[in-house]
Amino acid sequence: MAKKDDGDTKVTRMSHGTINSLLKKMIGLDVSTIGQGSIKRAIDHRLRQTGIADAESYLTKLNSSEQELRALIEEVVVPETWFFRDQGPFDALRMYAEGVWMPAHSGGTLRVLSLPCSTGEEPYTIGMVFTDCGLSPARVRIDAIDVSSSALAKAKRAIYTKNSFRSPDTSFRDRYFRQTEQGYELDSTVSTMVRFAQGNILSNSFVVSREPYDVIFCRNLFIYFDRETQRNVVRKLYSLLKTNGLLFVGHSEASIIPRDYFQPLESRGSFGYRKRDLMQVIEDRCSTTQVDPLKDRLSERAAQQQLPLQVKAEPPISVAAPLAVSVDDMPLQRAYKLANEGFLDEAATLCEARLQADEACVDAYFLLGVVREALGDHKSAGELFRKAVYLDQNHYEALIHLALQAEAEGNRAAADVLKQRAERAARAKSGDQDGGTRYE
Ligand SMILES: C[S@@+](CC[C@H](N)C(=O)[O-])C[C@H]1O[C@@H](n2cnc3c(N)ncnc32)[C@H](O)[C@@H]1O
Repeated sequence: MAKKDDGDTKVTRMSHGTINSLLKKMIGLDVSTIGQGSIKRAIDHRLRQTGIADAESYLTKLNSSEQELRALIEEVVVPETWFFRDQGPFDALRMYAEGVWMPAHSGGTLRVLSLPCSTGEEPYTIGMVFTDCGLSPARVRIDAIDVSSSALAKAKRAIYTKNSFRSPDTSFRDRYFRQTEQGYELDSTVSTMVRFAQGNILSNSFVVSREPYDVIFCRNLFIYFDRETQRNVVRKLYSLLKTNGLLFVGHSEASIIPRDYFQPLESRGSFGYRKRDLMQVIEDRCSTTQVDPLKDRLSERAAQQQLPLQVKAEPPISVAAPLAVSVDDMPLQRAYKLANEGFLDEAATLCEARLQADEACVDAYFLLGVVREALGDHKSAGELFRKAVYLDQNHYEALIHLALQAEAEGNRAAADVLKQRAERAARAKSGDQDGGTRYE
């Protein structure tokens, strides 16, 4: 009997380990941040709800049912929030709206992202601040996003009980809420400023489809992530924010924000940052990469970021293929260096700037293609490689990348033709490489 118990416990532990990994993959949850006990309670609750007898069978269900995975996610997320949670960020937001944004924009819309918004208290607080500043709903757009559909359903209802009014000063309640039998109902001048949507910050499609924001609130989410996920989310937020736009994080999350990309706001206790101009970040980085200790730090950082750029990887056919870029082409040299360090967004920005100055710059198309491919945008990468080959039919590296894409799509015939073209191109170009420099 004791032996069977041991076996059962082992299976349960294995199932729990697999469920932990699944949660990490889906929503970035590092189980150690909320404790294995919470996960166990969530699983036990789902076992009771579904009538499934054990963790192993539950795992099978989880792997085959997206609905069940969503139900488990609902159990494990922590929707804790309240109106005016911390005063500092909202004071800084008011100063920004009145002192920076409004004077610079006589028309237009102030765009804010509140992610995660949980049950709505944070985006509605932002709406109250803007209303206090005299901004009408027509001039404000607050996108409020969370992975939890039950939290969003509460948010959209906009009726709250006293648990949501935990800040020391609750005078805003008299101005913006009406007491009803169900609770305090928010005034529609504020609620119409907010658009709720379900979304997962880790989803690949999240950044691509969004216009950059003036302000992002991303508070009390990083604390549930491990270091690598934190870094990936910071990168996403950087690309979602306008230059000089503001990012607010939770008070225990400040150490995660890299100061070279985000400058801390002076207003104390705001845990707010101003996004630095990417070209300036690049300038600073390139002007200091000559210094060895800093270079080491950057390499270490690139390694930590674990970005998958493969610029230096050997092509899968044995033909010498140096990447040749003119030594005079400083922007492109920098782009290659940055890409090889793993700074993909920066490299892409330099390539784009290079192409704006010279739309026939073949190597800028090629490198931008490699970067986009590393970022998972295979379609755009393919177009860029084709453009490079259109401009230089002997562009060996672009041909190789196109061959690999064709192979990945299962188009062997096209892949073979492209490889043969690449081999011919390499032979044709074998005398041309002396004038170029290879950046690694
Ligand atoms: C503690 S609340 C934070 C709410 C609010 N920002 C605040 O600070 O008061 C954390 C929220 O993060 C959401 N969440 C967790 N993982 C997420 C993900 N990968 N994408 C989007 N939302 C997520 C949860 O559903 C939960 O509502």
